[in-house]
Amino acid sequence: MMKYPKDSKCFQSPWAITKLVPLIFLLILMSYLFYTIGFLIFKNSHECDKKPYTISLIKNLFEQTPKLPFEEKTNISHIVFGIGASSKLWKHRKEYIKLWWRNNETRGIVWLDKEVKIEPSEENLVPTLKISSDTSKFKYENTHGDRSGIRISRIVSETVRLGMENVRWIVMGDDDTFFVIDNLVKVLQKYDHNQFYYIGAVSESHYQNIYFSYNMAYGGGGFAISYPLAVELEKMQDRCIQRYPKLYGSDDRVQACMAELGVPLTLEKGFHQFDVYGSVFGLLAAHRVTPLVSLHHLDLIEPIFPNMSQVQALQKFKDPIKMDSYGLMQQSICYDENHQWTVSVSWGYAVQIFRGIFSARDMERPARTFLNWYREANYKGYPFNTRSFSRNDCQKPFIFHLSNATYDVMTNETVTRYIKIQPKPNPKCKWKMEDPAQIQMVEVYKKPDPYLWDKSPRRNCCRVQSKKEDGTLVIDVGKCREHEVVEL
Ligand SMILES: *[C@@H]1O[C@H](CO)[C@@H](O)[C@H](O)[C@H]1NC(C)=O
Ligand SMILES: *[C@@H]1O[C@H](CO)[C@@H](O)[C@H](O)[C@H]1NC(C)=O
Ligand SMILES: *[C@@H]1O[C@H](CO)[C@@H](O)[C@H](O)[C@H]1NC(C)=O
Ligand SMILES: *[C@@H]1O[C@H](CO)[C@@H](O)[C@H](O)[C@H]1NC(C)=O
Ligand SMILES: *[C@@H]1O[C@H](CO)[C@@H](O)[C@H](O)[C@H]1NC(C)=O
Repeated sequence: MMKYPKDSKCFQSPWAITKLVPLIFLLILMSYLFYTIGFLIFKNSHECDKKPYTISLIKNLFEQTPKLPFEEKTNISHIVFGIGASSKLWKHRKEYIKLWWRNNETRGIVWLDKEVKIEPSEENLVPTLKISSDTSKFKYENTHGDRSGIRISRIVSETVRLGMENVRWIVMGDDDTFFVIDNLVKVLQKYDHNQFYYIGAVSESHYQNIYFSYNMAYGGGGFAISYPLAVELEKMQDRCIQRYPKLYGSDDRVQACMAELGVPLTLEKGFHQFDVYGSVFGLLAAHRVTPLVSLHHLDLIEPIFPNMSQVQALQKFKDPIKMDSYGLMQQSICYDENHQWTVSVSWGYAVQIFRGIFSARDMERPARTFLNWYREANYKGYPFNTRSFSRNDCQKPFIFHLSNATYDVMTNETVTRYIKIQPKPNPKCKWKMEDPAQIQMVEVYKKPDPYLWDKSPRRNCCRVQSKKEDGTLVIDVGKCREHEVVEL
């Protein structure tokens, strides 16, 4: 199991820590000297193996996540999903799971309260179904919640007890959670699964985080627990749960035990709990510069694409995910100089065109197209900056949603096309400037970037190429060129 080179020498020494500290300083000083001398002597050589021993010692002391060869990198086979579901909603919710589940590739279990009917033709389309063990002996004293929270929080322990092999991460989710698998894998690759990690995100509603905790990974957005931590949790979870009968649900019960174990939340902002009402357009059109990992509350929020069901809407992501999963929902901002328009692309999802010039710092804030969990539109309701959707009719964006995505094998580029599907046309505007209403379609060209998240986070750049006769605006999206900035 332990595949990392362990540097136990440093820690087994009987020396007191007081002796170790000066030694570390000495080693740092020595390595500095070695590097300096090495630089002077072997200026252009790459003879790494000639580095003195002390340098590798220093590196092992300070390097937490060594670069791993491909075979050791976390992949889809190392993850086991634990999906909390209820028999009552299964008929409807299973359709969400089918959208992201990959037969023969993903591993996991849907944990239900009661048996459900399953067609033989469906067996390969969803995870294995299991019935959670009885929880009637546990106390539940919350008057607002449901005692199924106990059952669902124990999924972690019940999954550990299955004794599956080669598991590095247990990932929890709900039956109304949509995962982008390759992006989840990419995020987990950043962490050493041999250590204790509890990874997820908080709620989009500030008051939820105050009421529950800013240290809690919200369960519907999904969270990942490294396997050794899950094993440790399994040993104490049943005792721990008995100490918190007043808690509301499952994820707060998991967090309470994490607090007892002393393991903090590692925040990854690509998990989306979506504790909001209305349209999440604003959040997805200005996604954080981090891989999109999950979407939740699919029955509660409006369909992610207008004029279709939520399942149909999520199906639209299939092609962009296949072509360039890492790029999905990544924002780029640019200007159409000829027309004096601002353009914001959320790749694979939507393009917005605004009259006039907005700064990048405005455009990177999500527009409040949604209400918080207490159904308020107040800007103070969120744990992040937002902006109003538009301050006047002229500034209302022209929104184009993904129509289709194709891959051009000649140029190795993805071509995504976006069209207007707003139910209502934009309001009239008296500004004396060209009207984006003339644009019928936006065509975006982008090369897939498999290394996007192996570099420091940075938005892609976009460039308005041309406007065709038929009202098509052509845009190029890609890595920013040298000295390229969002400016006019
Ligand atoms: C995942 O990694 C394991 C090594 O831990 C390897 O044997 C397996 O082939 C990999 N699977 C995929 C799908 O890449
Ligand atoms: C993959 O799944 C199919 C069913 O869709 C099954 O018939 C086949 O045996 C599986 N292949 C492997 C390698 O497990
Ligand atoms: C893609 O969508 C655009 C706009 O709806 C349409 O004109 C075009 O024919 C579609 N192309 C393909 C290959 O489906
Ligand atoms: C496209 O990709 C293939 C294989 O990765 C490569 O051989 C080819 O040169 C690329 N073409 C262009 C135009 O970049
Ligand atoms: C909404 O969908 C229906 C059927 O799918 C289609 O006929 C109609 O044109 C769509 N409306 C808009 C505004 O796109």
